[in-house]
Amino acid sequence: MRTFIFDDYKQPLHGADVPEPVVGDHDVLVAVAAAGLNQLDEKLRLGEFKLILPYRTPLTLGHDVAGTVIAVGAAVRRFAVGDEVFSRPRDHRIGTFAERIAIDESDVAHAPANTSPVEAASLPLVALTAWQALVERGDVQAGQKVLIHAGSGGVGTIAIQLAKHLGAHVATTASAANGDFVRELGADVVIDHRTQDFAQELSGYDLVLDSLGGENLERSLTVLRPGGKAISISGAPDPAFARAAGLNPVLRLVIAAISRKIRRQAKRLGVTYEFLFMRADGQQLRRIADLVRDDVIRPVVGATFPFDETPQALESITTGRVRGKTVVTGA
Ligand SMILES: NC(=O)c1ccc[n+]([C@@H]2O[C@H](COP(=O)([O-])OP(=O)(O)OC[C@H]3O[C@@H](n4cnc5c(N)ncnc54)[C@H](OP(=O)(O)O)[C@@H]3O)[C@@H](O)[C@H]2O)c1
Repeated sequence: MRTFIFDDYKQPLHGADVPEPVVGDHDVLVAVAAAGLNQLDEKLRLGEFKLILPYRTPLTLGHDVAGTVIAVGAAVRRFAVGDEVFSRPRDHRIGTFAERIAIDESDVAHAPANTSPVEAASLPLVALTAWQALVERGDVQAGQKVLIHAGSGGVGTIAIQLAKHLGAHVATTASAANGDFVRELGADVVIDHRTQDFAQELSGYDLVLDSLGGENLERSLTVLRPGGKAISISGAPDPAFARAAGLNPVLRLVIAAISRKIRRQAKRLGVTYEFLFMRADGQQLRRIADLVRDDVIRPVVGATFPFDETPQALESITTGRVRGKTVVTGA
């Protein structure tokens, strides 16, 4: 079947014919109708995740999918042939830039009936990230103040909507051209990151979701109230992540060292710092599907490409500035 692979780290993504997926007892085989692109795809290709996600090459890329179940393993109970589903397959079983993919049923949910495959494929990775940051880790409560960085991006567009649904007061950073757009998504306060300094404008926040890392993360700590929490999806991985990921002792020491500065800064300010690396979770995806069905969360697709142009689509997400997500269609 036709897929898009890279042969070795830093090598370009290209089309290839590979053997059909093997469908395990707990797997569903999905005919891919649409596949969402993520910065993680490009970071993997460039080898930036080699240490914590050691993939063998050649590798079929792609972390998000929507499509139709065309076969099920012997032990599958929740899905049947013909079901419309969406998924972020678990790490080490990715590969949605393909005509078909076998996915463990516990990573899959039925797609919301009110979405197209393109819209459904735009959701899993970013919506699970938002859910795990705001619900699971952040425990956001009504009335709390939440800062979501990069509100017009893939994660930000969903995180703003989810935080509003949870009853939070939401501030976000975005370019001026995206100000009205993020306000429509529900942001109460919009900071133009090109002309304004959010750290000067905001204070007393309960939670920050940082997707930029570096100085942006360091300054984010200063807008938190004492006891507040910064969750970064782009900052330094922390020891809790290293433990949960089962990394070896040497890597754990390395990770402790690279996050020491930000953890110390947080401690000095009386706030906490956590790194989040999202994980596949079909149950959470079901909750997200319910919110989409109830029009609480609407998918934001800024660009689509035909399947044959998957490499161009991947390149576009590193250089372009689309609102929300980029999705390839019609594998
Ligand atoms: N750890 C995890 O589990 C995890 C999960 C998902 C994503 N991520 C990472 O999180 C990052 C964001 O992902 P994404 O999918 O949301 O990316 P994206 O869709 O490419 O969005 C990035 C957005 O960042 C905004 N931006 C650029 N510079 C900014 C600044 N200085 N301040 C505020 N906003 C700025 C841009 O919006 P404007 O045009 O409005 O400026 C752009 O829309 C990526 O690095 C990704 O790899 C990590």
